[in-house]
Amino acid sequence: MGYAEVYRQSVEDPQGFWAEAAKAIDWDKPFDKVLDDSQAPSYAWFPGGMLNTCYNAVDRHVAAGRGEQTAIIYDSPVTDSKRRISYAELQDLTARFAGALAKLGVVKGDRVIIYMPMVPEALIAMLACARLGAIHSVVFGGFSSNELATRINDATPKVIVAGSCGIEPGRVVPYKPLLDKAVEIAEHKPDHCVILQRPQAPGEMTPGRDVEWEAAQAGIEPHPCVSVAATDPLYILYTSGTTGKPKGVVRHNGGHAVAMQWSMKHIYGMEPGEVFWAASDVGWVVGHSYIVYAPLIYGCTTVVYEGKPVGTPDPGAFWRMIEEYGISVMFTAPTAFRAIKKEDPKAEHLKRYSMKSLRALFLAGERCDPDTLNWAQEILQRPAIDHWWQTETGWAIAGNFLGIEQLPIKAGTAGKPVPGYNVQILDDQGNLAPAGEMGRIMIKLPLPPACLPTLWQNEARYRESYLSAEPGYYLTGDSGYMDEEGFLYVMGRIDDTINVAGHRLSTGAMEEVLASHPDVAECAVIGVQDQLKGALPMGLVVIKSGVSKDEDTLRKELVGLVREQIGPVAAFKLVAVVGRLPKTRSGKILRAVMRKIADNEAYQAPATIDDPAILEEIRENLSRLGYADRRSG
Ligand code: COA
Ligand code: AMP
Repeated sequence: MGYAEVYRQSVEDPQGFWAEAAKAIDWDKPFDKVLDDSQAPSYAWFPGGMLNTCYNAVDRHVAAGRGEQTAIIYDSPVTDSKRRISYAELQDLTARFAGALAKLGVVKGDRVIIYMPMVPEALIAMLACARLGAIHSVVFGGFSSNELATRINDATPKVIVAGSCGIEPGRVVPYKPLLDKAVEIAEHKPDHCVILQRPQAPGEMTPGRDVEWEAAQAGIEPHPCVSVAATDPLYILYTSGTTGKPKGVVRHNGGHAVAMQWSMKHIYGMEPGEVFWAASDVGWVVGHSYIVYAPLIYGCTTVVYEGKPVGTPDPGAFWRMIEEYGISVMFTAPTAFRAIKKEDPKAEHLKRYSMKSLRALFLAGERCDPDTLNWAQEILQRPAIDHWWQTETGWAIAGNFLGIEQLPIKAGTAGKPVPGYNVQILDDQGNLAPAGEMGRIMIKLPLPPACLPTLWQNEARYRESYLSAEPGYYLTGDSGYMDEEGFLYVMGRIDDTINVAGHRLSTGAMEEVLASHPDVAECAVIGVQDQLKGALPMGLVVIKSGVSKDEDTLRKELVGLVREQIGPVAAFKLVAVVGRLPKTRSGKILRAVMRKIADNEAYQAPATIDDPAILEEIRENLSRLGYADRRSG
C-alpha cells in the first residue's frame, strides 16, 4: 500500500487504523474502545487499556530473548567516555532505580522532575518513573533556577533527580547550585533530591533532603512494572507559550506507546536491532520521543551523545558517530548542519569516515532552509528529510515515509501529512485556503494518539490556546500553505514565540524579564534572522527618564538578567536602546514591523500607527547593531 492509501485509511477510519497499530504494543489488559469521543472536543485513546511503558521499552525485549542487544550507546566527547548498556542491564538499572524512588515515597501518579545532562542516568530515571507509573517532567539543563522553580511549582514533584553538573565545551555548568536556588525560591518543596555526582563538579548535599544516586539504590530490590491506564500521564513536558508561564504538555501512556512504535517503522523506516540516533537533548520533545521512548519501544539501539556537532572536537563529530556505531538513521535540527557547514563548508572531515550504514537524515525543530537541506543531501548522498512537529504532538505531523513509500524530496517543504493527522490550512475567516495560499495550519480533531490531551492541571488554558480558534480544530500555532500535490510548507509561528537553534522560546517571557529591570521604562523582544541559529532574540528597550547609566553597562545587565532568569539557552545577546517604541494609537507595540525592519524586509506600517517617524529612528538604531542595513533596503 502506498502513502495515499495509508493516509486515506487513517483519516477515514482512525479507529480501525490505530486498533491495528496498537497490536504491536504489549497490553496488560486490552482497551475497551479505541477512541472515546463522547466528550469531544476532548478525546481519549485506548480507554480501559492497561499497560506499562517501561515494560514495552525494556522488559519485553529481554523477555523475547534480546537481553544481550545494546539498548543505549553513551558517547561523551566532553568527558572522553563511552559506554554500552544492554537491554538486560537496562532492565536491572531501571528496576533498581525505580525501587530507590519507591523507597523515597514515589508512587503511581506522583511527579518527579529530572534535571540532568546527556548521560544514560537521565534515561534510566525517566524509565524508572514510567516503571512506577510516576509522571516525569524533564527540565532542560540550559534553563535557569527561575525556570526550574516555575516548573517545580506547577508539577509539584515529590522527588527531583538531578545531575551535579552539565558539561559544555570549555566550561562546566554546575547544576546543583541552580537546583538548590530553584528549590529555595519555589513555593513547592520536594521531599527529596537524588543527585548524580559527577567528578567534574560534585554538588554540596543538603542533609536530610539530598541523597546520592548510588546511595539511594543501596540494598534496593528491583521494582516490578506497575500497570497503568492508557490514559494515565506518562510525562509532562513544559514548552514556551506567549507568556512567562510555560505550558505543561501532558502525554498519556497508551497512545504514546502506539504512535512511537508505529512511527519508527513507517516514518523512519527502521528495523528492530538497528541503531537510531537523535542528536538532541532529553530535555526537548525530540529527546523524549526519539532518544528514549520510540527507539527503545521498537527494540532499536539508541544513542546518548554528550557533545556538539562542532568543537567536540571538530566538525567531523557526527560522521565519526555514524561510522563508529553503524547508525542507520539520524535525526537532528538544521542548525546543527548549519554549524557544521559554517566550519567545514567542503565537508573535508567527512572524507575520513564511511557513511555506509546511513540510510537517511531527518531534520526538524525549525524550518529547514533549502540551502542546508541541499548541502546535507549533497555531502551525504542520502535523502535529507525535513519533517515538522511540535512538543504538543510528540511526533511528526508532516514528513516522509521511508517505511511506506518515499515521497519525492522537495527542499522547502516539510513533506505530506503523517497518517492520523488531518491537516488543513484555514484562512482568517475559517475557510479552507486554496492550494498555494498561506493560512493557519490546523488539524481537524481528533488528534492521533500521543498528541496532548490537555495541559497539566489547566484544561481551560488547553482549550483556550489550542481549541478555541475554530470549532473542531486544533491550532498548531504555525502558518503555511499546501501546494497542489499536497506538500506542506511550514513558514513560521503566528504567536509571540521564536525558534532559536531548534528551541522554541517565548519573547513574552523575555520581555517580562527586561521589564523587571529598574531602569527600563518599556521594552519589546523580537526574533531577528540569524544564519546559524535561524533566529536570535533582540530586545528593544526604552530607558526611564533621569537614568544616567551608560548604555553598554545597561546592555550587559540586561543580557545577564535574561541569562539568569531564563537561561543561557535563550541566547539573548542583542539589546538596542531606543528613544521610544512604535505603537498603534491604541498602544499595541508593532513588533512585527520592527522585526521586518531588523531583517531588512519590506513592511507596511499600519494606518493606526501613532507616529510613523519612529520607524526611521528604529531603523537607524538597529543598523548600528548591524541589522536593518539601509543600503540594501
Ligand atoms: N546546560 C547548560 N548550558 C547549556 C546547555 C546545557 N544542557 N545547552 C546549551 N547551553 C548553553 C550553551 O553553552 C550556550 O551558552 P553560551 O551563551 O555561554 O555560549 C547557550 O546555552 C546556547 O546554547 P546552544 O543553543 O547550544 O548554542 P551554541 O552556540 O553552544 O551551539 C549549535 C550552537 C548549533 C552547535 C547548537 O545549538 C546545537 O548543537 N544545536 C543542535 C540542535 C538541537 O539539539 N536541537 C534540539 C531540537 S531537535
Ligand atoms: P518545539 O515544540 O519546541 O519543538 O517547537 C515546535 C515548533 O518548531 C513548531 O510549531 C514550528 O514552529 C517549529 N518547527 C519544528 N519543526 C519544523 C519544521 N520541520 N519546519 C518548520 N518549522 C518547524
